[in-house]
Amino acid sequence: MISPEETRRRRYLEAMGITRWEPRDQIEPELTETTTDVATIPVSSVVVNPDWETLQRTVAACTLCGLQKTRKQTVFGVGNRSAQWMFVGEAPGADEDAKGEPFVGRAGQLLNAMIFAMGLKREDVYIANVLKCRPPNNRDPQPNEVECCEPYLLRQIEMIGPKLIVALGRHAAHSLLKTEAPLARLRGQRLNYHGTPLIVTYHPAYLLRSPGEKRKAWDDLCMAQRIAQSP
Ligand code: URA
Repeated sequence: MISPEETRRRRYLEAMGITRWEPRDQIEPELTETTTDVATIPVSSVVVNPDWETLQRTVAACTLCGLQKTRKQTVFGVGNRSAQWMFVGEAPGADEDAKGEPFVGRAGQLLNAMIFAMGLKREDVYIANVLKCRPPNNRDPQPNEVECCEPYLLRQIEMIGPKLIVALGRHAAHSLLKTEAPLARLRGQRLNYHGTPLIVTYHPAYLLRSPGEKRKAWDDLCMAQRIAQSP
């Protein structure tokens, strides 16, 4: 009899193109479920409870940080506005800047596989980025850009009311949690973003470069699933 977790694991392996996988009981347990409250984040820009349409229009017209000079268009977010799961990436890349939708390139394909492995579809979850505009040459988001964009993401989270947030990669985790802690320290914990449980995992683009880390990403997703399924 194959357990539901084993079924999900096999789906994930298949969807992610992994051919070898260590059985879980041979893996050193490295994740612990603790609750860590990361700094309360001051919100310095003001967006007064806009509805979805107003927020989307505000983002599309935004010139606060200067990235409008180099973007093709803003990348607002996509998915189910009543989702339980919210995935937050760093910033749009070239593909996203061209299409106006987050995670549509190769990293997006892998993210879709990760979502599928959870028994979900892309349309079931909500996907957004810390930054709504592409930084030139895909450079790292700057602190002032994060600060300007943060009220938009906060309002998205507030309106969706997800059961949990999955931060994809170091930059998303650092921007959201206002920490410089290494990803290895942030993974494996139930963190907190303005009252919403948050789990940190690897960015899909990193997993494309380092497929050996997919097992750890799977552990993170299993932890996220436990949180999503908790009462
Ligand atoms: N990487 C991200 O962090 N976000 C995207 O939308 C695409 C790639």
